[in-house]
Amino acid sequence: MYKLAVFVSGRGSNLSAILSEIHKGNLKAEVSAVVSNKSDCGAIESAKKENIPTFVVGKSFENGEIDYSTLSEKLQNFSIDLIVLAGFLKKIPADFINSFKQKIINIHPALLPSFGGKGMYGINVHRAVFESSAKISGPTVHFVDEIYDNGKIINQQSVDISDVKTPEEIAERVLKLEHKILPDTIKLFTENKIKLDNNRVTIN
Ligand code: GRF
Repeated sequence: MYKLAVFVSGRGSNLSAILSEIHKGNLKAEVSAVVSNKSDCGAIESAKKENIPTFVVGKSFENGEIDYSTLSEKLQNFSIDLIVLAGFLKKIPADFINSFKQKIINIHPALLPSFGGKGMYGINVHRAVFESSAKISGPTVHFVDEIYDNGKIINQQSVDISDVKTPEEIAERVLKLEHKILPDTIKLFTENKIKLDNNRVTIN
């Protein structure tokens, strides 16, 4: 079975979308671990309900929190095939990224390479898109490297936002697409259809 670790820190709607596709039998994978920097978020609650092992990473390694090298060992023991960042806001240390080369992906709620980077998360992203008067937005799934929102783009989808009145309306339209594109992209990984050749990602 293709094994996923999903990193979260918020409400966990993307985690739920992944789990729902797994339950429907559309995605042949299992979520073997959920990792968060917050012990009490919605995503962790959902994981616990499904009896998925959860790990909390943090600065102070008390109260059950662990550091990234311990986490790396634990995930290697689980034989994780793909790490999916779905709303995980903390910067991941370079050592950790290097030990899971081309095995970490992130979903960003705008069309990269625009509207990404430090501080570009949550409503900040949609506000920046709104204020730019961009006519389209949409989610981007990309590989994770040491720089925020910088890794090669794997998949994107756009939606018309020319008529929106608020950043929240953009968020709503983009989130709907996130819940489709993320499980779809994971499925492409499980089918070995994503290739990174000559510095370009292709879907075969
Ligand atoms: C999503 O908008 C995702 O693109 C971003 O963080 C948000 C997470 O939402 N990286 P949720 O916790 O999956 O509901």
